[in-house]
Amino acid sequence: MSRILLTGGLGFIGSHIAVTLMEAGHEPIILDNLHNSDETVLEAITQITGKKPTWVKGDVCAIDQLRAIFAHAAGPIDAVIHLAALKSVADSVADPINYYAVNVGSLLELMRAMEEAQCYRLVFSSSATVYGQAKQLPLTEQAQLHPANPYGISKLAGEYILDRACANDAKWNVISLRYFNPAGSHPSGLLGEKIDGGSQNLFAAIARHYLLPNYKLKVFGKDYDTKDGTCIRDYLHVMDLARAHLLAVEKCLTDATGYQAINLGSGGGFTVLEVLKTFEKLSQQPLPHAFEPRRAGDIAACYASTELAAALLNWRTEADLETICRDALRAIEHQRQTQSL
Ligand code: WQD
Repeated sequence: MSRILLTGGLGFIGSHIAVTLMEAGHEPIILDNLHNSDETVLEAITQITGKKPTWVKGDVCAIDQLRAIFAHAAGPIDAVIHLAALKSVADSVADPINYYAVNVGSLLELMRAMEEAQCYRLVFSSSATVYGQAKQLPLTEQAQLHPANPYGISKLAGEYILDRACANDAKWNVISLRYFNPAGSHPSGLLGEKIDGGSQNLFAAIARHYLLPNYKLKVFGKDYDTKDGTCIRDYLHVMDLARAHLLAVEKCLTDATGYQAINLGSGGGFTVLEVLKTFEKLSQQPLPHAFEPRRAGDIAACYASTELAAALLNWRTEADLETICRDALRAIEHQRQTQSL
């Protein structure tokens, strides 16, 4: 059993990681300021695991709170999984400095508190956004890093800082996980992505279609050079993603990893229309949508090379697109029933 500080542990991805850590026998200490969450998530984690995790309501930008957690936890904290961050590409374009201040600033405070507490094992939540335009597919970890928006720049800055920390001091063991397109939910449907948090991704848009009476689903672009003209993305189940964090943190705890950046994706991709068709098949209802012009900044296709994740973590995705969509539908149904919109 390891004691793991999980920042952002009540968010969409963090809550699934909390469940996965607890089911593997670890003790997560969740630090979350409810920026994009609420206390029902804590109840859902408790219901799924049968145990209430420790939650500290607080901010990862506040070093005093971090120091207090490292000092007052029931025992030493063995490792950190750091997810707490701002994540809207559009907001980051509107206010880049805020994104750098929060996403980079919080990482620096966390690293300072970790050094003081002599805790040097960290899993960092990064994103495929660090690559920007893909020149070659699948994207390997060696591909050029050229993020196209401040959100991606803030993640890449975090990666560089961690890479240098590991190069300067062999005590650090850090794994950055570059997520492709996480989607779906815990199979219970009790956890899922909140649609009132401003998420503009495709699965959030589909959830809005099912939950908001007058919502019109838009498909951005129908003239891309793909099999049906819509963009291809590498969707992976959030439970597969959570399992990768478990494996990564366990690796940081046992091996001298230095710095590693690892893609998390399925290795293949689906078009927007293929995703919509899967929902139509599962729900046995048409999913009306209107074509709109291309969304600024979108690229035609993006999917991961998965070799490094397989080699270093012995991880590959297990859930297929149908499972992802089925579990997403369960979470949508749960949100409808509880009206926790
Ligand atoms: C997928 C496809 C859209 C919404 C994601 C996250 C982003 C960032 C990086 C952080 C594209 C189309 C979407 C809609 C649509 N996250 N689409 N109608 O572009 O890979 O970006 O990863 O870590 O926040 O969103 O994924 O889900 O936004 O878009 O047609 O209402 O769906 O144009 O082709 P993307 P996505």
